[in-house]
This record gives sequence, structure tokens and C-alpha cells, in this order.
Amino acid sequence: MRSLLSRTILLLPLTASLTFAHDFLGAESCQACHPDAWAAWQATSHARSKDVLSAQQQKDARCLSCHSPNEGDQRVAHVSCETCHGGGQYYSAKFVMKDSELARLAGLVDPGEKSCRACHDGSSPSLKPFDFKEKLKAIDHWTVERKKREERAAAAARKTDGTQVAAQ
Ligand code: HEC
Ligand code: HEC
Ligand code: HEC
Ligand code: HEC
Repeated sequence: MRSLLSRTILLLPLTASLTFAHDFLGAESCQACHPDAWAAWQATSHARSKDVLSAQQQKDARCLSCHSPNEGDQRVAHVSCETCHGGGQYYSAKFVMKDSELARLAGLVDPGEKSCRACHDGSSPSLKPFDFKEKLKAIDHWTVERKKREERAAAAARKTDGTQVAAQ
């Protein structure tokens, strides 16, 4: 296993450029490898959050700050994958994605309750207080992802067992 230090050195030029870059790739770039997460996200209003605004409101920074916050600087509309997970330019390469630690060093964010509340707070129109657990269930795009990953891992383990038996 590579050490954290060597990974950090590997990523230094990347992290240095993070501050300047247009580092969002758009939801379609994630769709290629995460089709199930993408389909589940498509079914939520996050994927269309700009469309509830009138033409006039779509030019109003006060509305866009929650309904399409990354449009101005990153040209990605709505509440998209990278609005929550961070710009994907440096973490979406497959070898980075497969390494949880490296992916986080390259900018992958684990969104939590706090990140939801940046938009779902007292100034959004809802009369009901934001119930994190309940709302999290309503945007679930990870259960299928994780199940398939476990199935792949189990299949790979069986295959390895088979090879070992055959080699004996
Ligand atoms: C080239 C394929 C590829 C692309 C493109 C890609 N991913 Fe991934 N992603 C993976 C793989 C492989 C994993 C490792 C887990 C697995 O095997 O399912 C992963 C894992 C993740 C995880 C879980 C990481 C962890 O360690 O818990 C998140 C979150 C994620 N990707 C988000 C995204 C987002 C958001 C995008 C788009 C900006 C994206 N990915 C683009 C292949 C990709
Ligand atoms: C602080 C973040 C925030 C800001 C700023 C914001 N909204 Fe929203 N808006 C939300 C959230 C979150 C929801 C959905 C949940 C809810 O009702 O609280 C929402 C829902 C809506 C809806 C209802 C959509 C539906 O399906 O019923 C409309 C319309 C809307 N906003 C318009 C606007 C307009 C116009 C502005 C600018 C004047 C604006 N919003 C500013 C967060 C925000
Ligand atoms: C509103 C914020 C938000 C948006 C938008 C969003 N995600 Fe997520 N995503 C989350 C949260 C929160 C979790 C972790 C949930 C948990 O662990 O309970 C998660 C989990 C995941 C996971 C599973 C990670 C793991 O550990 O297995 C993947 C993969 C992922 N998201 C990819 C995507 C992709 C691809 C998109 C766009 C198509 C997207 N997400 C859009 C908030 C978001
Ligand atoms: C960048 C701002 C932003 C962030 C961050 C965000 N949301 Fe939203 N969310 C919105 C907006 C805007 C809407 C309303 C979209 C519409 O009605 O078209 C919405 C709608 C929703 C809805 C459907 C309406 C409702 O209130 O039931 C759910 C559920 C939801 N968000 C859950 C979450 C969760 C859970 C998180 C954190 C993991 C999160 N959101 C993070 C802006 C955001």
C-alpha cells in the first residue's frame, strides 16, 4: 500500500491548481460510471431545481445561490452531483475513485447534514423544519450503488477461491 506521504506528493500539483480551476465536469461525467446514482438523482427535484424559477428569477443571484449555485463559476446548473460531492476533475479518474483516501485528497467531499442546511434552512420556503434523516431517505442514490459493489466484491472473492482450488 502506498503511504499517505507519497500520495500527498503525487497530488500536490493537483491541489495547488484546485483553487483556480473550473473543476466541475457535470453530472453526465459521473453517469458513465454511476448510472444507478445518476438515475436516482434524476428522479429528485435537485436535478431540475432551476426550472421552478421564472425567467427573471433565473437571473437573480439571490435565487440561484440555492437553486443553481454552480452555474456562474462552473457552468453546471441545478443542484448537481458536484454541488454536494465537490468538483470531480481530479477525483473522477478510475484509479483515484477506487482509492477512498486518495479520492478525498483529490477533492471528493462527504456531504452531511451541515451541507444540506446551507440551502435547507430558515430562508427556504418550507414551513416545516428540515428533518435530515427523512430528507436523506428522499434523495437515496447510494443503496443500490453499495449493494452492487458488495455483489461485485463477493463475485470477485468466489472467482479467487475458484482459481486457488484449480491451481492446487
Ligand atoms: C471512471 C469511472 C468513474 C467516474 C467518471 C466517477 N466515478 Fe465515482 N467511483 C468510481 C469507482 C470505481 C468507485 C469505487 C467504488 C465502486 O467500485 O463502486 C467510485 C466511488 C465513488 C464514491 C464513493 C467513494 C468512497 O470511497 O466512499 C463517490 C461519492 C463517487 N464515486 C462520486 C462520484 C461523482 C460525484 C462523480 C462525478 C463527478 C464520479 N464519482 C465519477 C468510478 C467513477
Ligand atoms: C436558502 C436557499 C434558498 C434560496 C436563497 C431560495 N430558495 Fe427556493 N427553495 C429552496 C428549497 C430548499 C426549496 C424546497 C424545499 C422547501 O420548500 O423548503 C425551495 C423551493 C422553492 C420553490 C417551490 C418549488 C416547488 O416545487 O414547490 C420555489 C417556486 C422557489 N423555491 C423559488 C425561489 C425564488 C424565486 C427564490 C429567490 C427569490 C428562491 N427560491 C430562493 C431554497 C432556497
Ligand atoms: C444534495 C446532495 C447530493 C447530490 C446532489 C448528490 N449526492 Fe451523492 N451522496 C450524498 C450523500 C449525503 C451521500 C451519503 C449518504 C449516506 O452515507 O448516508 C451520497 C452518497 C453517494 C454515493 C455512495 C458513496 C458510498 O459510500 O457508497 C455515490 C456513488 C454518490 N453519492 C454519487 C453521486 C452522483 C453520481 C450524483 C449525481 C448524479 C450525486 N451523488 C448527487 C449527497 C448528494
Ligand atoms: C445548493 C443548495 C442545496 C443543497 C446543498 C441541498 N439541497 Fe435539497 N433542495 C434544494 C432546492 C433548491 C430544492 C427545491 C428544488 C425544487 O423544488 O425544484 C431542494 C429540494 C430537496 C428535496 C425535495 C423537497 C423537500 O424538501 O422534500 C429534498 C428531499 C432535499 N432537497 C434533500 C436534501 C438533502 C438531504 C440534502 C443534503 C444531503 C440537500 N437537499 C442539499 C437545494 C439544496
